[in-house]
Amino acid sequence: MDQALVTHLAQPGSQWWRSGVIYQIYPRSFADSNGDGLGDLKGITSRLDSLAALGIDAIWLSPFYCSPQKDAGYDVSNYVDVDPIFGTLSDFDDLLEKAHGLGIRVMIDLVPNHSSDQHAWFQRALAAKPGSPERAFYHFKDGLGENGELPPNNWVSMFGGPAWTRVTESDGKPGQWFVHLFDSSQPDFNWANPEVQLEFENILKFWLDRGVDGFRVDQPHAMAKAEGLPDHPYLKEAGAGFIEGRENPPMWFQEEVHEIFRKWRKILEGYPGERAMCGEAYVYPLSLMAKWVRSDEFHQTFNFRFLDAGWDSKKLFDAINESFEAFDGVGAPSTWVLNNHDVIRHASRFGGDYGRATASDGIGSGQPQPDPILGLQIAKGATLFMLGLPGASYLYQGEELGLPEHTTLEDKYRQDPTFARTNGARVGRDGCRIPLPWEPEGDSSGFSESGKSWLPQPASYKELARSIQEKNPESTLSFYKTALDLRKQLGLGEGSFSWIAGHQGPETLGYENSGVKVIYNFGAQPVDLSTFEILLSSQPLSGKQLATNQCAWIKP
Ligand code: GLC
Ligand code: CA
Repeated sequence: MDQALVTHLAQPGSQWWRSGVIYQIYPRSFADSNGDGLGDLKGITSRLDSLAALGIDAIWLSPFYCSPQKDAGYDVSNYVDVDPIFGTLSDFDDLLEKAHGLGIRVMIDLVPNHSSDQHAWFQRALAAKPGSPERAFYHFKDGLGENGELPPNNWVSMFGGPAWTRVTESDGKPGQWFVHLFDSSQPDFNWANPEVQLEFENILKFWLDRGVDGFRVDQPHAMAKAEGLPDHPYLKEAGAGFIEGRENPPMWFQEEVHEIFRKWRKILEGYPGERAMCGEAYVYPLSLMAKWVRSDEFHQTFNFRFLDAGWDSKKLFDAINESFEAFDGVGAPSTWVLNNHDVIRHASRFGGDYGRATASDGIGSGQPQPDPILGLQIAKGATLFMLGLPGASYLYQGEELGLPEHTTLEDKYRQDPTFARTNGARVGRDGCRIPLPWEPEGDSSGFSESGKSWLPQPASYKELARSIQEKNPESTLSFYKTALDLRKQLGLGEGSFSWIAGHQGPETLGYENSGVKVIYNFGAQPVDLSTFEILLSSQPLSGKQLATNQCAWIKP
């Protein structure tokens, strides 16, 4: 897609979510306080100082609610309590208090598209009759075929396999089917039901009352379904997903969602402080996504266009143009993201050819292995390029240590449902979810005092432990700290954006923000920066020459 060259002016409004750096914590892999090998809330609280030292503005916690953990907590069985494996509500309050004391805001994950099949609402629905109000919380339908033995439509799951599972009715006979766009343990809610809407409004209030600063909303584009649940019109080409530019299939970004988000926004605005919600919305093109961040809907959405661009100069150029054009049009901040718990870590992704990054397929030992040196080099350049952009930026735990993906995890450890549901054809997302190394000592590198760890760390994690990197000014951690500190000092998050002539690809991409120039070299030839002051570079520059795969922040 060809885009016009955009410029972006600093946005009016100084709310934190317009420019903040938000750090994603994956609770089960951050820090373990009680030696069971699974990260928990107390573990997070005990390590928050290190995040304050890193210089982030907010954290987003992936789910810690009661859950059978069939999809690592994205299968919630009680939205208003903490799973005992992670701690208690009072542990959560302590975490919040500590974070706020350190000036760190706290966003939590809201999972409204589906619950766990162990949620009381689903259990109640199973026990009730077809056509009952209990069943109307979810999407139950009679099957097709003579005896209802065929699923009600052609939908398939995002994790592989069918999107329908048949239940056994109370008389012991096979009965209705329910829809799940993800695992069969994650039944989708019926958002056309006002009672479901009311329940979630109460969930929002429960956490806002406790003091959270906002929500990261899981799969919001899936919440509303087209009436009658018609077939996916081009399933053969799109699988569970959709193809940009074509009609949106009956399960993705239906118009009805907007009314729901408007209600949520009003609820958030009824609270003091700047509470915010970020939608994990896969809505393309971004001109469509812009509707999701109108001033009375989400405050921001993840910019997966940027993440999906890989590290291709043309795709990035287009993604940035498209982002500012779309989001500026509605006065919303653009967001930027390179990592999360669903995609191959950028230090590995950029060290090989892994196609569309968000395929969430992971890397297994049978596949071509990434080049760790090249990967980290590009990753650091990419991060510097991202952190210079005005808007909000998301970081994922461990990227500040330059952690690679675990690409040789033994299959026996794999827990992502994608692995089982595709019979191992997709190894899944476990490789980016490995527990963090804090110190070089111990079997789990300081993750747990007991040395236990729910997924084993690769050998390379030891020397990347935070305590080692903290002492080394040349480390990836020190680089992230300097970048975040400078970003703040220079006001880059709140700044403006324009492309620099002669740096619009394919050899180099360069932009200017608040008097600072940011240049990334994609080409084979070095870029001469000898007339500039170098504020920061992703690798030490020799003779002020920006070599291939390096990025620098410079000033005349
Ligand atoms: C989101 C989460 C992912 C989860 C899925 C289903 O994409 O980020 O981890 O598996 O939703 O809840
Ligand atoms: Ca634990």
